[in-house]
Parts: sequence; C-alpha cells; structure tokens
Amino acid sequence: MTTNRTFTMIKPDAVANGHIGGILDKITSAGFKIVAMKYTQLSRRDAQEFYAVHRERPFFGELVQFMTRGPIVSAILEKDNAVEDFRALIGATNPAEAAEGTIRKMYATDIAENAVHGSDSDENATIEGAFHFSGREIY
Ligand code: CMP
Repeated sequence: MTTNRTFTMIKPDAVANGHIGGILDKITSAGFKIVAMKYTQLSRRDAQEFYAVHRERPFFGELVQFMTRGPIVSAILEKDNAVEDFRALIGATNPAEAAEGTIRKMYATDIAENAVHGSDSDENATIEGAFHFSGREIY
C-alpha cells in the first residue's frame, strides 16, 4: 500500500445504528476513493491481534468485546495526504471533543463506541490494510 492510502473500519455501533450509508457518503464526499471494502465480523483473535498495541490498557477487554459483537465495514481509502486528512474528517477519539461536522461528532456514542477507526500513521495504514485484505482484494 502506498502512502496516499489509509485504513478504516465502520465499527459495530455505527453499523448497528444504521450509519454505514451516512458515513460512506461523508468519506466519498470528502474526496476519498474506496480501493478495497468488505462487510465482515472480527473474531476475538482478530480483534486481540489488531489492537495488540493496546493490550496493556485498562479498556482492552471492553474494546475486544465491543469490536467483536457485530459486523463491521473495513476499507482502504485513497487520497493525497490520506492518513492526516482522514483523521481530521473523523475527529477526536472522544466524540465529546470532536469538532462539528466530523464523523465521530455526528455518529459516535462515546469514547469507546466511537463509530469509526482511522490509521494513525502511514506505517500502520499499511499494516492494518494488509491485516484485513489480500493483495487481490485491493484495487
Ligand atoms: P481507535 O482510536 O480507533 O482505536 C483504539 C480504540 O480503543 C478507540 O478507537 C476506542 O474505540 C477505544 N478506546 C480508546 N480509549 C478508550 C477508553 N478510555 N475507554 C474505552 N475504550 C477506549
């Protein structure tokens, strides 16, 4: 994956609350091209591995439980400056602190159930995209 790409998930809260369409519209209206996408559900093992960097955090168990409780949409997005621009589009981790018009301000419930994931670096975007998609699923 090149550095003009980022990785996202629409999390189980946002899927269950019927926000897939609204969130994809925000993403594509902001100029991101979808180069890979799937509707899927993480196993416990998947979530533990994906979030391994957080395993010592007090919320790790809650995070794994949340991320495995229902389907998600995972996607790789392409745009100049993708990682930074996508994090601006989704807003702060805690929706109470997210700017007006950001995806988390519009669709997230709280700091745990915060509607969407966005990679925090080019390196992690590559790792996370490869975790969810094989080469032939990326266009
Ligand atoms: P994200 O930044 O996509 O990846 C780490 C996730 O952990 C974060 O979104 C939230 O879903 C969750 N998280 C972060 N901080 C907390 C917290 N204080 N309590 C519960 N969950 C959290």
